[in-house]
Amino acid sequence: MSTDDLARVREEFLAALQSAGSEPEAVEAVRVRFAGRRSGLLRQLEETLKSLPKEEKPAFGKALNELKRFVEERLAAAQEAAAKGAAAAETVDVTLPGRRPPAGSLHPVTLVRREVEEIFLRMGYSVADGPEVEDDWHNFEALNIPPDHPARDDQDTFYLPGRLLLRTHTSPVQIRTMEQQRPPIRVIIPGRVYRRDSDLRHSPMFHQVEGLVVDEGITFAHLKATLEAFLKVLFDSRLAVRLRPGFFPFTEPSAEVDITCIMCAGKGCPLCTGSGWIEILGAGMVDPRVFAACGVDPQRYTGFAFGCGLDRVALLKYSLPDLRLLFSGDERLLRQFEGVRR
Ligand code: FA5
Ligand code: MG
Repeated sequence: MSTDDLARVREEFLAALQSAGSEPEAVEAVRVRFAGRRSGLLRQLEETLKSLPKEEKPAFGKALNELKRFVEERLAAAQEAAAKGAAAAETVDVTLPGRRPPAGSLHPVTLVRREVEEIFLRMGYSVADGPEVEDDWHNFEALNIPPDHPARDDQDTFYLPGRLLLRTHTSPVQIRTMEQQRPPIRVIIPGRVYRRDSDLRHSPMFHQVEGLVVDEGITFAHLKATLEAFLKVLFDSRLAVRLRPGFFPFTEPSAEVDITCIMCAGKGCPLCTGSGWIEILGAGMVDPRVFAACGVDPQRYTGFAFGCGLDRVALLKYSLPDLRLLFSGDERLLRQFEGVRR
């Protein structure tokens, strides 16, 4: 054993360190092999030193000490580089699964509105819009509801300064459409409406979709077929649709439309108060007085209209116990609609 052997160990160490690169486990293996406390190569060389003849000890001891220092320094540097490399690799590890940000969801009423729009777009209707702040003429008078008419009591109104009000239904947009557009008209109008109303099935702000068709030769049969087609696509093709005589000042004749209660399939339950039917919308043939108020010739044209509560549809489709839940902002409700797309 001589100082030449130490030089060889030094070369071996450098080669091993080089091939370990900045791989933390490989650097650790090099440390164990050369500088391991119990059986590392340097430890073994210390044993060799003890067994050398006295005159060779000083030179060999000195060279061995230098080699130890050299190995320590290089190992420390390699360990540091390996630690840094590992940290850097961690921040750019593109193979890790991404962190999913909390996803928003579409509101159930939005889902229902979009579905209704799709159904009517396929039937050749267009989608229109109107103001939520209305005047008395469009919300009531042009719809054949004069002041003091008892129908105003059914739609307890939020009044605003300046003889304005929050629209109580989407029907005023019927008037606005006919004021702007000559027949043939085939339109639906979804939107927010407001009434002083609040219980399990009523909210002070809710949504309706209005339908209006005006053309020559439109009959009640067209209305019935359209509503049946609409409701069967929206709910279930097996459900039954029933028209009952109803009253609205702006339609004559008028009907209230029921569907089979979807909770009990018509057997009778608390939601339908035992009847097996649930009212879903109001409809009828446009009253000639409404045509007159909008300058449409009632001799030439007939038409039908309907108004459907979108929140009621959501209530039935998604089996909600209380309509007001829809507007409570409760995340536990909304999360159930994550990933539902329309
Ligand atoms: C109307 O509002 C008429 N404009 C409908 C109409 C249009 C008839 C065109 C004829 C021709 P009604 O007040 O019944 O009618 O309301 C219609 C639907 O809105 C109801 O069937 C119900 O589904 C829903 N609705 C009424 N009030 C509320 C409320 N406070 N909260 C939630 N939904 C409601
Ligand atoms: Mg009603």
